[in-house]
Amino acid sequence: MARLSVRGLRHAFAAGPVVALEALELEPGRLTVLTGPSGSGKTTLLYLLSGLIRPQAGAVVWDGVDLARLPERARDRWRRGNAGFVFQDFHLLPELSPLQNVLMPARFAAFSARRHAGRGAELLRRFGVPDRRRVALLSRGERQRTALARALLLDPAVVFADEPTASLDAAAGRGVAEALQALAAEGRCVIAASHDPDLIALAGRRLHLEHGRIEVFA
Ligand SMILES: Nc1ncnc2c1ncn2[C@@H]1O[C@H](COP(=O)(O)OP(=O)(O)OP(=O)(O)O)[C@@H](O)[C@H]1O
Ligand SMILES: [Mg+2]
Repeated sequence: MARLSVRGLRHAFAAGPVVALEALELEPGRLTVLTGPSGSGKTTLLYLLSGLIRPQAGAVVWDGVDLARLPERARDRWRRGNAGFVFQDFHLLPELSPLQNVLMPARFAAFSARRHAGRGAELLRRFGVPDRRRVALLSRGERQRTALARALLLDPAVVFADEPTASLDAAAGRGVAEALQALAAEGRCVIAASHDPDLIALAGRRLHLEHGRIEVFA
């Protein structure tokens, strides 16, 4: 069970908008969707909430641990133990197979990849990714689903997903949206950035970003 509490969060790049979020509480069990136009700061906010970048000001507290106060290695350790991240551009290794990619988090966590091979293969089957020698031979949508399977390998309490249905057709997109909602319903904290009406419709909470200004709905 993971609970998030954000206070006075503020981050700006030289050219982009300022991401500013005064206060936000997220309890487990809900799917939260970040919406907003391209460049509004959705990816930046996911990076801030997951500790991939450290905010210029404010606190990002997961179960009492403030990621904003931790150095990079400790933030990486927190993510390895607690979170799965589906990157907008997947970050897969094209020369490795889908399964080898999916098993990467087990390697980084110094868990035996072999012990997780069954679960990795099952996740790939569940998301309909064909068994290929190299990820380079997969379609973009198949890569997107490989990235999701990788994020879920270690059954993380927190799932961050950056536009996880953007490369999928309507049916596959609905499948992924429902899978994310089911993960939240099981008690995880799921935070996704998306433009996809099917995914937005399943959200228990929506945060809308506009030039870094964030409005929280329900
Ligand atoms: N590392 C960086 N250095 C400088 N500027 C950045 C960096 N990352 C993002 N930006 C800027 O911050 C702004 C927000 O970018 P971000 O990627 O968070 O937007 P987004 O809402 O995810 O957009 P999209 O829908 O296109 O993915 C953009 O103007 C972008 O150019
Ligand atoms: Mg983005």
